[in-house]
Amino acid sequence: MLIPPILTFILSLQLMPEYRCTRNASYLHDCIGRDDITARQGYYIKANSPEGAWKEMATRFPKDVECGFTIQEWEGFNVRVVEVTENKERENTQELSTQFPTKELLAQLSEVLEYHTPPYQPLKVPQYRPGQYGEWKLEEKETPLSRGYFTSIQSVVNNYRLCRGQILWMSLTPMELESQSHHALAAKDHTVLMGLGMGLLLYNVLLRSEVKKVTVIENDPDIVKLFYQITDATSWPGWEKVSIIIADALNWIPSEPVDYLAVDIWSALGDENLRSDGQKIQKNVQAKQVALWGQELDFITFLVERGYSQPCTLSQYHEYIDAIGIPLIEADNPNYPDYCFRAAQMVFNY
Ligand SMILES: C[S@@+](CC[C@H](N)C(=O)[O-])C[C@H]1O[C@@H](n2cnc3c(N)ncnc32)[C@H](O)[C@@H]1O
Repeated sequence: MLIPPILTFILSLQLMPEYRCTRNASYLHDCIGRDDITARQGYYIKANSPEGAWKEMATRFPKDVECGFTIQEWEGFNVRVVEVTENKERENTQELSTQFPTKELLAQLSEVLEYHTPPYQPLKVPQYRPGQYGEWKLEEKETPLSRGYFTSIQSVVNNYRLCRGQILWMSLTPMELESQSHHALAAKDHTVLMGLGMGLLLYNVLLRSEVKKVTVIENDPDIVKLFYQITDATSWPGWEKVSIIIADALNWIPSEPVDYLAVDIWSALGDENLRSDGQKIQKNVQAKQVALWGQELDFITFLVERGYSQPCTLSQYHEYIDAIGIPLIEADNPNYPDYCFRAAQMVFNY
């Protein structure tokens, strides 16, 4: 579990989004938005999260709480369009030049764009179908909106959820997809993946010509059975490169050198054991390069532990790598520390 100071740290960026909020209840009077909430003007509320905007609407319209509110992230730039008429051309041109793209507006625009553009090539999603085996179940799940991992709120299509009993282990939301995208891009030669899940990372790793062999370490044979039920894995491109071994990731020792290791054996982002599990695994595997799912959050936690403040730097990331003793990916990417900060903002809703 991550500790409160990380929230204070993240707050220092002071990026407070705006939300367009509409009441779900039907209007009583006859008007264009009566039965169609998309046609309503809405209320524009600045809040730290959609939940915060929802609470503000609930305070303003307590009688509408039962029907609820629709909250959408809104990107308003306070751009006032000025009408230019023949007679007033000069006057209005002056007005335009003082209002139109100012440096601040451009900076605001590029910030919004940055928060909507994933920094890495998105993962490709193979075909899935619902299924159940033992305690594991894969089902389709309608999810209208979700935050990304590096990007802000967006719509979600074709989401699936993988649960063992009551525990959600994996889904196809932008948060899940983006948090593994760079792990796929780093795969090469002999790649070891720890944690099969839906095989999403496996599918993407197999698409890379740089990858010669893939060893998957999974401790639960039931998820492997389900995996064959919910996918057409044996027809995936590159399937001949795969071996699946049933073993505990924390104790497995390879019989040949490992070029790249990606570990995803946790059900939720920000697992408190990430660092110690990663160290235990790498001690046995001795991979040349390693990715741990959610390592960005652990890096930010490390910065908080050391009392550092924004901005995060590449030399701090190197310090983190040295401190934990794992050769993590992205050590040469000067933008990566900033992506880590964005991930922490998204996961902790700031
Ligand atoms: C979140 S899922 C992995 C999702 C996967 N990265 C994907 O792209 O579909 C985690 C997986 O790790 C497995 N797992 C959990 N603990 C493990 C351990 N100690 N050793 C091996 N596998 C483990 C779980 O059974 C599950 O299949």
